[in-house]
Amino acid sequence: MKILVTGGAGFIGSHVVDAYVGAGHQVVVVDNLTTGRREQVNAAAQLYALDIRSPELRDVFERERPDVVNHHAAQASVTASVADPRADAEINVMGTLNLCSLCVQFSVRRIVFASTGGAIYGDPQRIPADEQHPTTPLSPYGIHKLVGEHYVRYFGSGLTWAVLRYANVYGPRQDPHGEAGVVAIFTRAMLDGKAPTIFGDGKQTRDFIYVEDVARANLLATDATASDLANIGTGAETSVNDLARHLASFTGFRGDPLHAAPRPGEVHRIALDVSKARRWLAWSPQTSLMDGLRKTATWLQSTR
Ligand SMILES: NC(=O)c1ccc[n+]([C@@H]2O[C@H](COP(=O)([O-])OP(=O)(O)OC[C@H]3O[C@@H](n4cnc5c(N)ncnc54)[C@H](O)[C@@H]3O)[C@@H](O)[C@H]2O)c1
Repeated sequence: MKILVTGGAGFIGSHVVDAYVGAGHQVVVVDNLTTGRREQVNAAAQLYALDIRSPELRDVFERERPDVVNHHAAQASVTASVADPRADAEINVMGTLNLCSLCVQFSVRRIVFASTGGAIYGDPQRIPADEQHPTTPLSPYGIHKLVGEHYVRYFGSGLTWAVLRYANVYGPRQDPHGEAGVVAIFTRAMLDGKAPTIFGDGKQTRDFIYVEDVARANLLATDATASDLANIGTGAETSVNDLARHLASFTGFRGDPLHAAPRPGEVHRIALDVSKARRWLAWSPQTSLMDGLRKTATWLQSTR
């Protein structure tokens, strides 16, 4: 199959591209390289350095005629969306709308959309949160991802769709200098002998899922035929304090983390119920938190 991956030069998207290439698919990447990096794009994939909002995206569809579109391009930081909701909407709503319209015009068979379970449910009434949990996002990022889901569904009358709501994804290629990505940011700081900064008391919890498990979920969601959505996570809560302790053991860091005020827009506790993904996609996470953190620390060490 020919698959167009938006955001395929980014952290998660580049792993999804690798998984598709490994499965024998022909891959085209559209990425404007704001946070993505050319060198992360699999050599077997064709890269168009283009914005998903640009009129030239039509030319790519015209030339490539993809069977499937996998949509990972986004403004992916909760904090940046709080600071500039309009900029987030431009990319995450208008960009998604532009892409969905082209999928319909060019008879794409299936669209796979990277959404968020971490930012869509709000502070959950029950943990782990399943897909039936009310959606009350606390940030413009969460609101716009939810709008993106609705657009994918709305345009899905002529094509099939899969929405994957990710927990907190971590692993190799995550930007250690970015706004988001606590595992990469803490590990880099610790490897450099610097104390990481925890926003709040560190008792807030996240559901950390390894990026290769997420890439595998994308492969399965591409091959599935039904239009449906599923959480992708582990179901387990890990506090940021515990995460810092684990990472200190892998990096040899001996100091204490610093603390700063909690960041607006972020939920306090979250973990995702993934039984739906197990039933629908026969997917379950295969990488334990300790193995994933060790692999991430090893990778970050090699990029020094
Ligand atoms: N990292 C997580 O924990 C997480 C959790 C839930 C959902 N997601 C979603 O997964 C996707 C990938 O996130 P990531 O963590 O890999 O972030 P990332 O920033 O590494 O990837 C986003 C990619 O999109 C590209 N991009 C941004 N704006 C674009 C535009 N207007 N046109 C074309 N390309 C553009 C960037 O250059 C980058 O390569 C996003 O949709 C994000 O919302 C991520």
